[in-house]
Amino acid sequence: MSEQEIKVPDLGGADEVEIIEISVSAGDTVEEEDPILTVESDKASVELPAPGAGKITKITVKVGDKVKEGDVVGMMEPSEGGSGDSASDEAESESEAKAEEKTEEKPKEESEDSAEKSKPAPKKSSGGSRKETVKVPALDGFENVPVIEINVSEGDSISEDDPLVTVESDKATMEIPSPYAGKVGKILVKEGDKLSEGDDLLEMTVEEGGEAEDEPADEDSGKTEAESKSESKAEPEQKQKAQEPAPQPQGSTYEPPSPGAKVHAGPAVRKLARELGADLTRIKGSGPKSRIVKDDVQAYVKSQLQQSQQGGSVGTGSGIPGVKLPDFSQFGDVERESMSRMMAATATNMQRSWLNVPHVTQFDDADITDMEDFRKAQKAAGEKKGVKMTPLPFLLKACATALAELPQFNVSLDMERKEVVRKKYIHIGIAVDTPHGLMVPVIRDVDKKGLWELAAESAELAQKARDKQLKPAEMQGACFTITSLGGIGGTAFTPIVNTPEVAILGVSKAAMKPVWDGKAFQPRLMLPLSLSYDHRAVNGADAARFTALLSQLLGDIRTLLL
Ligand code: COA
Repeated sequence: MSEQEIKVPDLGGADEVEIIEISVSAGDTVEEEDPILTVESDKASVELPAPGAGKITKITVKVGDKVKEGDVVGMMEPSEGGSGDSASDEAESESEAKAEEKTEEKPKEESEDSAEKSKPAPKKSSGGSRKETVKVPALDGFENVPVIEINVSEGDSISEDDPLVTVESDKATMEIPSPYAGKVGKILVKEGDKLSEGDDLLEMTVEEGGEAEDEPADEDSGKTEAESKSESKAEPEQKQKAQEPAPQPQGSTYEPPSPGAKVHAGPAVRKLARELGADLTRIKGSGPKSRIVKDDVQAYVKSQLQQSQQGGSVGTGSGIPGVKLPDFSQFGDVERESMSRMMAATATNMQRSWLNVPHVTQFDDADITDMEDFRKAQKAAGEKKGVKMTPLPFLLKACATALAELPQFNVSLDMERKEVVRKKYIHIGIAVDTPHGLMVPVIRDVDKKGLWELAAESAELAQKARDKQLKPAEMQGACFTITSLGGIGGTAFTPIVNTPEVAILGVSKAAMKPVWDGKAFQPRLMLPLSLSYDHRAVNGADAARFTALLSQLLGDIRTLLL
């Protein structure tokens, strides 16, 4: 019978998709439309069905491969008549179904029994230890089962029954346990290899009635050059790991994933993780040798749910996948340190605002030439009062006026109740850069205060912030925030709205610019303004009105009195 190619069908517009699961193996009999493999685009997971009934003869792809429409993923022999429901097929399916049941129910016991049966007769002992080649035990009727994980490394000391490799058939995941206690030698298989009963798996130095650690000092003498080399290669890797302190847990089960990290988990746990969509590489195992047990998976999922409900930093609560971290130590020395509470809180708030608020930033320049002349003229008066007049009080006053004139900026949105909360007061937060992080003290009733009062109060609050002396009440209740980087530099930036406020003014460094007055260019001191706003509450025209009004007020500060 002639073979037929199995091709990726039309993917509904998706370009390239990743194979996340292969549901069949060579030798399987399938019906038309039976799933062959599952692919996942950035939008959805889709099962690719068999083009017809028949027998799979070859699968030419593996999990993780990227495919597109028309790619060949395997070969099959179509069954005569195309139905694939012959008596022999039925018998085969039945026995497969039985095998599936058994494997799903008791995979470990089955494997253990098989391992016991397949334990080869010991080779001749030499000085208390002997070399063994561990072979694949009976796999409960399965053949050509791909290795999905190698659970040990060369040089590892292991106990009897420790998992050596994990294989996954189309029906179940199985661990092949070690028939001996001892030291792992050369590993003879790699991930992706297909195994059947009797295949060589790895070499071991088996202790006669003792632990692997008790091996004689000259244990290396019996090793091949390749073995010694691979062990000495493994050593710096272990050292490197030891240099990097353990990551700080954020939840009871959180660990940053590292690519290629080994996951120790049994088939039932893997199945549970798959069902719950939990990434095993992110879960810290509480079992022996950090083995992941069902409780770990459940605790991890629970903590992820709680964090996403609280807008936590791991899950985003918006179905947005977290950022996967590489193992940085592969690029050079690294060090880990815990985030301060303030840094963690700021990170959470920033992420929450960024994800919840549709941000737009409106830019404008205010001509502050005259304002600066006036401000500088106040120097002597300021020295008498012991208060320094900076541009900030003028900005506070101009923003208070703009908030009163354009009250759509002085609101918060209650999306649950579909209500707009309008505020009858004007309290403005000022972002203060401190050695321990960003803090935002709030000046109350800015509209009712004079410039000197605002200068004194903002200086006092900024100092309190730097000294960590702010009371919680002094950081609450703002309607709007000003973040001024003008003392530092920059021409513009896009600040993040400090939710539940709906707008924030970013101020950059004023600079002399040539400004056309209708007849000639005049040197004017221009202050860059960057107004970020929540586009759900404020429309673009109002934002342009707000910055234009600020420019007008700062351009002629007499208008602040009107
Ligand atoms: N353009 C040019 N110069 C400016 C300026 C501007 N926009 N704003 C301030 N300056 C000048 C001031 O006049 C002062 O100069 P002077 O000593 O010659 O008079 C100098 O820069 C320093 O001013 P500063 O001490 O920053 O006072 P301020 O009242 O302008 O700002 C704070 C007070 C608290 C806002 C400020 O110290 C601060 O912490 N800014 C950083 C805020 C931040 O980190 N935001 C980022 C949030 S993401």
